[in-house]
Amino acid sequence: MWAEKLGKQLGNPTRSVAGYLVSRFLAVRNRLLEENAVRLSGIKPGDTVLELGHGPGLGLQSAAKLLTEPSGRLIGVDYSEYMHKMASDQMKELVASGKVTLHHCDVAAMPLPDSSVDKVFHCNCYYFWPDLRKAAAEICRVMKPGGLMVTTLRLSMVATMAAKRVMPGENWRPQNYMAALRDAGFTDVRMEDRQHKHITFQVIYATALKCHGNQIRI
Ligand SMILES: C[S@@+](CC[C@H](N)C(=O)[O-])C[C@H]1O[C@@H](n2cnc3c(N)ncnc32)[C@H](O)[C@@H]1O
Repeated sequence: MWAEKLGKQLGNPTRSVAGYLVSRFLAVRNRLLEENAVRLSGIKPGDTVLELGHGPGLGLQSAAKLLTEPSGRLIGVDYSEYMHKMASDQMKELVASGKVTLHHCDVAAMPLPDSSVDKVFHCNCYYFWPDLRKAAAEICRVMKPGGLMVTTLRLSMVATMAAKRVMPGENWRPQNYMAALRDAGFTDVRMEDRQHKHITFQVIYATALKCHGNQIRI
């Protein structure tokens, strides 16, 4: 019962005591994953960058600092109205200037044009997406040819939570997500172990090539 409740809040934090506690937990526990996802994405100053399931907004803040050219743009999407509002409040000046755009929407249906994003990153969220294939196809659709997607996770913690049924089903398994990415048209899909401050975490990389609207002959 508690596991199901925790899973619901992690997958869609609501404006409530539980949702607030989860948002504080994410902000403290996931800083390492968010900052490393940004670092490993290889963001260039003029890139258009998208974070999926940004939660409280730590990764958005790190990425925004790297987009120093006028053409650099940052987009965030999150399914939770509470997280959307929290991140929008934190980044209100950048949102007002047009540098940052945040959408309250599902990753499987984003209001973004085809082939418009250079880099995508996300942490701790694909396990909550009900349909990995639909989500992967939508991510691929919005990415420019050759664009890089990076996701970070601590697999040992995810597996422990999945065993306690915090995440339902099998979507948490990296091989299932990686298969969905390959089927969607991503190439060079791979996972590697990394260490930061004695903490081991995993990174999944995928390059967008043969996605809708950006077919490349190789
Ligand atoms: C566990 S939290 C992780 C938040 C943040 N990335 C972090 O690592 O602290 C998962 C986030 O993904 C969002 N999310 C879950 N399913 C989503 C979906 N289908 N589309 C967009 N966002 C989603 C949730 O609302 C939540 O903010």
